[in-house]
Amino acid sequence: MRAIKSVLVVAGSLKRGDTQRAEDQVLMRALRDFNIPKIVTDDMPVFMGLIRDLFPALDVPRKRDMDFEKHVRQSILNLKLQAEDNFVLKVVQLEELLAVRHSVFVIGNAGTGKSQVLRALQRTYQNTKRRPVWADLNPKAVTNDELFGIINSATREWKDGLFSSIMRDLANISHSGPKWMVLDGDIDPMWIESLNTVMDDNKVLTLASNERIPLNPSMRLLFEISHLRTATPATVSRAGNPLKQLTGSTQCTHYQTLPKIFQKTHEKIDTNNTFAGACDQY
Ligand SMILES: Nc1ncnc2c1ncn2[C@@H]1O[C@H](COP(=O)(O)OP(=O)(O)OP(=O)(O)O)[C@@H](O)[C@H]1O
Ligand SMILES: [Mg+2]
Repeated sequence: MRAIKSVLVVAGSLKRGDTQRAEDQVLMRALRDFNIPKIVTDDMPVFMGLIRDLFPALDVPRKRDMDFEKHVRQSILNLKLQAEDNFVLKVVQLEELLAVRHSVFVIGNAGTGKSQVLRALQRTYQNTKRRPVWADLNPKAVTNDELFGIINSATREWKDGLFSSIMRDLANISHSGPKWMVLDGDIDPMWIESLNTVMDDNKVLTLASNERIPLNPSMRLLFEISHLRTATPATVSRAGNPLKQLTGSTQCTHYQTLPKIFQKTHEKIDTNNTFAGACDQY
């Protein structure tokens, strides 16, 4: 149901943005562009095959906001990273997901650039004067009680937790700039189950003290993880919209731009072969 709702929200906004377009084209675009970020590279031909079966002889170009992409490229360069097409696409896809979902999982192996994609989008917000706020924490670095707070059973005294205090602070900010809570650390049912009501449409965090902290429309919950293997089915269904960061064969893309840069300074080394070989191997 969550996935259907998200597709309908995307289709609705596409339809409103382009009222002249036929409905089957709008639906195809919503289904395709919204699901592609979730699909690993190896499954892409299967997915595109399914879409072609559903909508034969229909090929609508992806809706692109060139102005936004220009800002993204500029921000990536500001961060002194490579503004390589696949990386830009991931940043744009993250923005598209965040527009329709309030909790997004960024999944990818260590070192595939998950954090850099998040930073690049934050920088884009800064450059476009949207006043972003960012708070990140590693949920595995503290205990569950330290994360969500605890009532002392002897004195009935309430001790606030790290996540609950961050969330309250962000909820109290009055401007409408994007506010992110980034949970960077592997998933463990211990802490993520407590976030179930925040991730679904209830959008509230209920604490042991009976306090309820709402997730405002401008707040987003982001998870930076490497896999969903230890997550429970309840979490996985809520994580309906993971951004598969540079998975599979595209994993190594920013390293592939290295030969060109290296060649300028190290003319004697045959960088092309050295790096290409290493990329294929790892
Ligand atoms: N577009 C890019 N251009 C240049 N370097 C990049 C780019 N993307 C990532 N990198 C480099 O790759 C390294 C790893 O990236 P990053 O820290 O984002 O990975 P990660 O997926 O968050 O890893 P972890 O799982 O360890 O948190 C960074 O130090 C960064 O310098
Ligand atoms: Mg990281």
